[in-house]
Amino acid sequence: GFSWKLNDHPKLPKGKIIGLVVLDGWGEAKPNQYNCIHIAETPAMDSLKMGAPEKWRLVKAHGKAVGLPTEDDMGNSEVGHNALGAGRIFAQGAKLVDLALASGKIYEGEGFNYIKESFETGTLHLIGLLSDGGVHSRLDQLQLLLKGASERGAKRIRVHVLTDGRDVLDGSSVGFVETLENDLAKLREKGVDAQIASGGGRMQVTMDRYENDWDVVKRGWDAQVLGEAPHKFKSAVEAIKKLREAPNANDQYLPPFVIVDDNGKAVGPIVDGDAVVTVNFRADRMVMLAKALEYDDFDKFDRVRFPKIRYAGMLQYDGELKLPSHYLVSPPEIDRTSGEYLVHNGIRTFACSETVKFGHVTFFWNGNRSGYFKQEMEEYVEIPSDSGITFNVQPKMKALEIAEKARDAILSRKFDQVRVNLPNSDMVGHTGDIEATIVACKAADDAVKMILDAIDQVGGIYVVTADHGNAEDMVKRNKKGEPLLDKNGNIQILTSHTLEPVPVAIGGPGLAPGVRFRKDVPEGGLANVAATVMNLHGLEAPADYEPTLIEVVDN
Ligand code: 3PG
Ligand code: CO
Repeated sequence: GFSWKLNDHPKLPKGKIIGLVVLDGWGEAKPNQYNCIHIAETPAMDSLKMGAPEKWRLVKAHGKAVGLPTEDDMGNSEVGHNALGAGRIFAQGAKLVDLALASGKIYEGEGFNYIKESFETGTLHLIGLLSDGGVHSRLDQLQLLLKGASERGAKRIRVHVLTDGRDVLDGSSVGFVETLENDLAKLREKGVDAQIASGGGRMQVTMDRYENDWDVVKRGWDAQVLGEAPHKFKSAVEAIKKLREAPNANDQYLPPFVIVDDNGKAVGPIVDGDAVVTVNFRADRMVMLAKALEYDDFDKFDRVRFPKIRYAGMLQYDGELKLPSHYLVSPPEIDRTSGEYLVHNGIRTFACSETVKFGHVTFFWNGNRSGYFKQEMEEYVEIPSDSGITFNVQPKMKALEIAEKARDAILSRKFDQVRVNLPNSDMVGHTGDIEATIVACKAADDAVKMILDAIDQVGGIYVVTADHGNAEDMVKRNKKGEPLLDKNGNIQILTSHTLEPVPVAIGGPGLAPGVRFRKDVPEGGLANVAATVMNLHGLEAPADYEPTLIEVVDN
């Protein structure tokens, strides 16, 4: 029968302290002026690279290697940390929704049947990120859902859009809204009363994560549920074009707006008897809204009105909280993660990041599950992030504080695994500010240095890797790899992640002499890291985990 007990590794000892560092958004790309990692001074990471090929290598962090639908899908933190923590590749939300829409199964499930009961007398509201980024949501899935729901009886539909500019180019929101407007017009021709009701930029409205700033969710609530916002427009295309004219405006940070009719009345507040679907498949930035929509007891902000609705998520976002309780597509069943194995095998774990990435090394790492497996074996520390700022103004973020916590945890010898996420290259990379991103990369490298030093002091082992690319390429490129220019001749800044591979480096005084990277897993990806780390803890990985990246040669 099944057992959590892992076999001892035949060659590697137990009891070494492992420092496990995930650099967020740190890929490997050609050195050039748009590669902030290359430009920045990064002596710690440079020295690790000198260990190639035995102690440093690249792994895949995008596409099918992390459970995404196609090789054109860039990596992201959700799928990256899922793979790192779970040691296997699971078909992810993006893919599962594609399949459910293609087969029509999405309309047969409990979730759809639940919301459908409101179609006769209520309005169907769809809330989510409007882009083709494929990280949190996809426009084509929304289009299919609109069609499918209207064919199945939804007579009145309101869409609440969140503009992107973070997983896609800034400025692309106009085109996405035009496409959506077009679809809604076609539905209206068929007699469905379908309109955009509200909107706003994803970083300003609704899509906060890990409870960093509830005001973000409140701004969305006011617009979506109460029909109130500082800006009122007759159409969403007009809204976005106008709001983008403000100095320094961008898609990510557009203020909230509502669409009003000729009498100035909001066209789509959410009221009793309505159905609501949050169409994002990715969890982190939907959990807070899901709580506001679902929980009777709620004290994070004044909801003013708490409508009696039928609410379903595109997926269930939190497997531990079972939130939301209704959903259209079942999430990937990410079970038996490495974290859960390790607590059953005597490994004491410390995990830390700052708020904006805290759930990455806990929630995502543990298969989209909040909380501890065994509290007496684990400690998770969250360092509060600065809120209400764009991180290009504070590119060092809390890297130093994270590294200090990790250092102290390592030196305390109370933990066998000390795991951190260093957010800088990702969070600052997403702002598109190249100068600031260079500062960010150096700050992350300084943090790596501090952790490596601590590992040195305790005779431990380090594993340094990343979840996906970002800061190593800050320009949109054509198929040939040349930078793309906009109509004014300026380069198009790439705020999003990339398709690049990421490094994995191993070392430290505790690493047994014969350990080196194998040559026979050239296609290795992030999912291969979990077995590797288990081995370094002196344990064999479960048989169905992706193979380890290391071998032990006698010398
Ligand atoms: C975000 O949510 O900030 C971006 O869409 C993706 O970034 P992450 O995958 O690095 O969190
Ligand atoms: Co990112």
